[in-house]
Amino acid sequence: MKSRDIRKLIRHDMATLKAYQPIEPPDVLVEEIGIPVEEVIKLDGNENPYGCSPRVRRALAEYPCYHIYPDPEQREVRKALAGYVSVDAAHIVAGAGSDELIDVILRLFLEPGDAVVNCSPTFGMYTFCTEVCGGRVIDVRRDSKYNIDVPKIKAAVDAKTKVIFIASPNNPSGNLTPQADILELLQLGIVVVVDEAYYEFSKATMAQMVSENDNLIILRSFSKWAGLAGLRLGYGIFPEFIADYILKIKQPYNINLAAQVALVESLADIAYLQGTVRKIIAERERLFARLQELEFLRPFPTQSNFILCRVVKGNAKKMRDGLRKKGIFIRYFDTPLLSDTIRISVGKPEHTDAVIKALKAAYKG
Ligand SMILES: Cc1ncc(COP(=O)(O)O)c(C=O)c1O
Repeated sequence: MKSRDIRKLIRHDMATLKAYQPIEPPDVLVEEIGIPVEEVIKLDGNENPYGCSPRVRRALAEYPCYHIYPDPEQREVRKALAGYVSVDAAHIVAGAGSDELIDVILRLFLEPGDAVVNCSPTFGMYTFCTEVCGGRVIDVRRDSKYNIDVPKIKAAVDAKTKVIFIASPNNPSGNLTPQADILELLQLGIVVVVDEAYYEFSKATMAQMVSENDNLIILRSFSKWAGLAGLRLGYGIFPEFIADYILKIKQPYNINLAAQVALVESLADIAYLQGTVRKIIAERERLFARLQELEFLRPFPTQSNFILCRVVKGNAKKMRDGLRKKGIFIRYFDTPLLSDTIRISVGKPEHTDAVIKALKAAYKG
């Protein structure tokens, strides 16, 4: 028998693919620092510290049909979402997190060698999924205030460019992209994906414009405002013909029944969830004001549930490490436009107090 090397069968471009940098779950984090998991203050994932609606927990416990496959056409889920978004259900498809929809959209449009515009610094999944799909990333950097550069994007788009991703509010900078910029990009005649994962905290949306634009896609998530990051639930608002293709090529049972139950019950208990969103927005303003008082930090204005700060005196990595030792987890970045920055998710009032105290202590060393 000929000697064989199975590694040779793996796609060549997978060897150089840069892995996505996910956040670690709390039990892994505490193993490293040896404190009880209940004492962890997790402000690194833009998750909702209040969790999901109590009605969701009850509905999940009581649901009787987990032994049956879920509906591949997501009828109940799409109907509930259509009511929430105020568009026809034919425009909506749900995914296992908006992450899954980023992947499915790219699998629908990209052939090897096709390009995607990414406006860095931004959410890493656009680049990662493009490369997994064999696409090419054209990176058009944002300016120093993290606004997108429309003339540069227009100049960068070539005959093989099919999709542009714009997160609005952007992660990690927290700022919105003006509607006028998106409208200008739509004129390019390629697909413009506006990722509104943080919509409930910004209240700015282009969802109602999907029916008039055959190249506009909106992505939303239940991970942040609805406290369901662990169940993986997102959705897209698509032109109808694109929604049909997404339904055709997605994994048939991508929304599991627990996620379906949680989504329907969340929307039935929307007043509760809107209450926690209001608490997070109020706390965001308080956290921002407290961060502004620290002479070693410069927080950037935000429309989301996190705040990016430049460390203007001291060292961002040391600050992150100092907090980590106390069980407070935040993100730290060190890429070109994000040199010496940290990102802090908005938590409960007691989390704000703890993080401010720990930042002061870390600065003093
Ligand atoms: C801009 C943006 N889009 C999408 C996501 C992923 O959301 P989901 O949990 O629905 O996959 C995130 C998560 O951090 C994000 O920041």
